[in-house]
Amino acid sequence: MPIEERPAGDTAVRLIQISDVHYRDAPGSHGFVRHDPDAGLAAALADAADALAAADVLVASGDLADTGEPGAYRRLAEVLQELPVPVYCLPGNHDNHDAYVAGLPRTGVHLEPAVRIGPWLLLMVDTNALGREHVGDGVYRDLDDRMTRADGPELSAPEAARIREILAGSDAEHVLLFLHQPPLAEICPRLDPSGRLGALLRDFGHIRAISGGHLHGSLEGEFAGVPVFVAPSTTYSIDYAGKRFDGPGYRTFTLYPDGRVDSEAHTAPGPITDAMRAKPAPRFLTDLMLGVVTIEEMREMSDEQFQARFGEPRPVRGA
Ligand SMILES: [Fe+2]
Ligand SMILES: [Fe+2]
Repeated sequence: MPIEERPAGDTAVRLIQISDVHYRDAPGSHGFVRHDPDAGLAAALADAADALAAADVLVASGDLADTGEPGAYRRLAEVLQELPVPVYCLPGNHDNHDAYVAGLPRTGVHLEPAVRIGPWLLLMVDTNALGREHVGDGVYRDLDDRMTRADGPELSAPEAARIREILAGSDAEHVLLFLHQPPLAEICPRLDPSGRLGALLRDFGHIRAISGGHLHGSLEGEFAGVPVFVAPSTTYSIDYAGKRFDGPGYRTFTLYPDGRVDSEAHTAPGPITDAMRAKPAPRFLTDLMLGVVTIEEMREMSDEQFQARFGEPRPVRGA
């Protein structure tokens, strides 16, 4: 497990989380939102420059490529390796396992699941088990519908065992757990607290907080008594309260020696955010992200039913 050296006398661990980068294999605008992943990531990192200079690490919490293109990971790795801090990645439901593993690792860009910084252990957990088949020895094969199937957090048995082994072998006092799909019951009604993730939290009481992405919004909640944070997307985010799109963003964390966790969500000001905030978020998207409608129910609707339910035509492809 990597151990990041820290300046002597610096007692708090500082880190930055980016999420849902949705990079493509070429720059430009994509999707029904007409977002530009390159411009969004650049705006978020520019806004985070001061925080990056003071940070110990940056965590990138999944959906790093939009559809899993190999070239997207290579292009993103070139950006991440230039950052002044080590980067730790974990996969999301949009990530293609083989391309992710082949394209990302660089000096300073890690796929290792854990890093120790002072009294804190940061754990990167793969919660994409619903969209992947474990074919043995920690090797996974993506299912064709992984993007929509793996829409809630699920640990495979080997992943849960791997995480338990790391936790049992570490003498860290505090743990911050990162994953892609956040366990928020109000958004994921099928979430089972007695499942592998809940059991992990019960068995390891020094997991102080969880942070995820996937929802493209700045949210907070709790699962099994543990605080849950959600990072906005660097590509496009959703202001769930205002039912509008929002600009590219990121989260900052301060982890104290006594186990307290402070986190703040940031949206990068500028022309991208101004343009995004001028757009109402489509009803189908906020309903889908908030669990009001399932992807299966949406699929079963005819185009006419979709239009009647959401007041707008069905988009070419979801986020
Ligand atoms: Fe995403
Ligand atoms: Fe996602």
